[in-house]
Amino acid sequence: MPAIVVVGAQWGDEGKGKATDQLGDRVDYCVRYSGGNNAGHTVVVDGERYALHLLPSGILNPDCVPVIGNGVVVDLDVLLSEIEGLAVRGVDASHMLISANSHIITTYHQVIDKVTERFLGKARIGTTGRGVGPAYSDKVNRIGLRIQDLFDASILRQKVEAALEQKNHLLVKVYNRREIDPAEVTEHLLSHAEWIRPHVVDVSALLNEALDAGKVVLFEGAQAHHLDVDHGTYPYVTSSNPVAGGACVGTGVGPTRIDRVVGIAKAYTTRVGEGPMPTELLDSNGDKLREAGIEFGTTTGRKRRCGWFDALVVQAAARANAFTDIFLTKLDVLTGWEKIPVCVGYQVNGIRQDSMPLTQSEFHHAVPIYEELDGWTEDISSCREFDELPKNTQVYVSRLEELCGARISGIGVGPSREQSIVVNDLL
Ligand code: GDP
Ligand code: IMO
Ligand code: MG
Repeated sequence: MPAIVVVGAQWGDEGKGKATDQLGDRVDYCVRYSGGNNAGHTVVVDGERYALHLLPSGILNPDCVPVIGNGVVVDLDVLLSEIEGLAVRGVDASHMLISANSHIITTYHQVIDKVTERFLGKARIGTTGRGVGPAYSDKVNRIGLRIQDLFDASILRQKVEAALEQKNHLLVKVYNRREIDPAEVTEHLLSHAEWIRPHVVDVSALLNEALDAGKVVLFEGAQAHHLDVDHGTYPYVTSSNPVAGGACVGTGVGPTRIDRVVGIAKAYTTRVGEGPMPTELLDSNGDKLREAGIEFGTTTGRKRRCGWFDALVVQAAARANAFTDIFLTKLDVLTGWEKIPVCVGYQVNGIRQDSMPLTQSEFHHAVPIYEELDGWTEDISSCREFDELPKNTQVYVSRLEELCGARISGIGVGPSREQSIVVNDLL
C-alpha cells in the first residue's frame, strides 16, 4: 500500500501525529499537504514529548524523508526554529524537502489575522492567530508570496510592496494600527533564502517518482474534515482543504495514486475555537473529559471544548473522504464512566435527522439524540490486542464502527508510540 492519507475525522486534535508516527519506520516519505503552523501534532516517544507544527510527524523516524507540499503555508521563522529545536534534542531534520510553490506566511498575515479577529468581536472564528487565513486569502487573491520568490530579490520586493499597498491602508485607516514597512519585511524574508535553498524541490516530481519506485508515501493531514473550508462548518473553519482530496491538490499527486485513506477519530469529540458542536458538554462532565484527556491545545494552549462521540460527524467525514479505515484514538480516556452516550441522530426543529443537516442554521440548532452504552472501569492502557479489551470496551468500539461506516483498524490506548492496538495492518 504505497500511498496513504491520514485525515482528521472531527474538528482536529484527534491524534493524527501519533497515528502517523506509529506507522513510522515503514514510511519512506511523510508529507504535509495543507494548513500551516496552526497545526499542533504531539508525538510521545520513549517518554519524550514532541509538538510539531510544520514538520510532518514522520521526522521522528530517521529513515523517513519529511516533505512540505505546495498546499502548505509556511512561516519560515517557525520552520527554522522547529528544525533547530529538534536538532538540540538529537532529531535531524536537515533532509527536509519543501515545494517551490508553497506560500509564505509573514508578519502582515499574523497582524491581519489578529486584528480581524478583534474586529469581528462576537462573530470571531477563534483562529490560532498564526496568519494562516490571511496567507491563504493572498494566495487565492494572487498576491501571495511563494518560497521560490525568495530567490529573486527584486520580484520579492515588488510582491511585498504590492501586497502591502492595500493592507497598509486597511491597517492604518480601518484598524488604527501602524503601517508595515515593505522593505523591512522583504529584508527579513531574504534572510531565509540561503538556508532554505537546498531544501527546495519539485514535490510533485519527487513523490510521483517515489511511488513509481514502490516507496511508501504517507500524507499527514492537519486540521480535519469539519474544519475544511468547503466541507466543514463554514465560516467556523480553517482556510484550506484538510480533506483527503487536499492531499492531491497540495502535493501534485493524482487521485488514482492514493491507495488508502485513514480517518483519525477520537473516541469522544473535541473542538477548539468557535462554531457549532452539538455534543459539547458545558457541565462538569465536560471538565471531567477535559481533565482525563488533557484537552488543552498543542498550539495555543486553549481549553478544548469536550463532548461525547458524534457518529453523524464522523460518518459525514467517512463518506466525503472515502475512509478505507478509521484509527480510533484516546479510548483509554473514557475509562471509568458508568454509561457512555454516543450521538446517533439529531432533533432539529422537532424533526429527527439521521445525518448532518443540510444547512448551517439547522446544525446550530441540532440537539443530539443519544444511545447509552455501558462503560468499563479496567485500565486499558496496556492492552495491545483487541481481545484483551474488556467486553464493554469491545462493544463500544464495534458500535462506533457500525455507526461510522468504515472499519476500525487501529485503536489508541495512550499517548505513547507503543500504546496502540492494531486490528488491521494499515500498510
Ligand atoms: P493532532 O493534532 O491530531 O496530531 O492531535 P494533538 O497532538 O493536537 O492532540 C492529541 C493529544 O492526545 C496529544 O497530546 C497526544 O499525545 C494525545 N494522544 C494521542 N493518542 C492518544 C491515545 O490514544 N490516548 C491518550 N490518552 N492520548 C493520546
Ligand atoms: P491540528 O492539525 C484544532 C481551528 C482554530 C479555529 C479555526 C480557524 O492540530 O488538528 P486558523 O488559525 O486555522 O485560521 O483557525 O480552526 N484550528 C484547529 N483546531 N486543531 C488544529 O490543527 C487546528 N487548526 C486550526 O481553533 O477554530
Ligand atoms: Mg493538534
